[in-house]
Amino acid sequence: MIRKINLKDSELEELSDFLKETIGIDFKGGKLKRFSISIENLMEEEHFENFFNFLSKLKYDKKLLQKLINIVTINETYFFREKEHFEIVCKNIIPLILQRKNFVKILVFPSSSGEEVYSIIFFAKKYNLEDKIKITACDIDTNMLKAAKELVYSKKSVANIPSDLLEKYFTKLEDGYKLQDSFKKNVEFLHVNLFETNLSLKLGKFDIIFSRNMLIYFDNEQKDKAFKIFYDLLEDDGYLFMGHADVLNIKKELFEKVKLGLHVYKKI
Ligand SMILES: C[S@@+](CC[C@H](N)C(=O)[O-])C[C@H]1O[C@@H](n2cnc3c(N)ncnc32)[C@H](O)[C@@H]1O
Repeated sequence: MIRKINLKDSELEELSDFLKETIGIDFKGGKLKRFSISIENLMEEEHFENFFNFLSKLKYDKKLLQKLINIVTINETYFFREKEHFEIVCKNIIPLILQRKNFVKILVFPSSSGEEVYSIIFFAKKYNLEDKIKITACDIDTNMLKAAKELVYSKKSVANIPSDLLEKYFTKLEDGYKLQDSFKKNVEFLHVNLFETNLSLKLGKFDIIFSRNMLIYFDNEQKDKAFKIFYDLLEDDGYLFMGHADVLNIKKELFEKVKLGLHVYKKI
């Protein structure tokens, strides 16, 4: 098939600038090239004949922008990823917060397809805390949010779950595993862009935030903005859990490291 559209490197760089401003992800230096065929397909499906018109429309057409976002986000996740964080949060931090409150509000941002959220619930069950937590889970990718609510997971995604838990809480399907619907009981999934304005008005404040493996895709300028946003979303004395590659350049005037575990921070 002869392709009508072939994006130039300079056009991909222009699109990278737009994506950085809109969703924070840094694709500069050729990083968008791996998605170029999917972006060209999108342009053809949507009947664009040139890049200028495509970029112009992205600036006001939310449906088109969402289609692009669903192509370029990297959603890798799996159950019990860096599982010591779930042990720390349920064994040490939630009980501490429950000394002064009746329930604990947790934000998982980003949630991708939900494995991290449901991993927290597994550990909350272990410590009998399931009804003491409320989780708000956000992501910008609508396909991932849909998957998170469907609770159907691949063999690879559940590989780290101990076999007794897998047997107890999942139904084996022909090609994957379905988690019990009860895991959604105290969870709300929301379609949110981290860089939306007035996020704390929309979401409220949280005792604990998990933000793992998203900031690695941002440059330092967007990372700085993200740390400030998490600071505003946290209650005083709130805790922030990050992935190991996210914490480079963490703002030391906003967060201090706590000794409980790697990449666990407290709001100053
Ligand atoms: C690699 S996944 C991380 C998932 C999970 N936290 C984990 O550690 O396994 C990164 C997710 O960040 C989301 N994301 C990227 N930029 C975002 C933004 N500006 N607002 C909300 N979500 C975003 C992507 O859609 C993707 O699902």
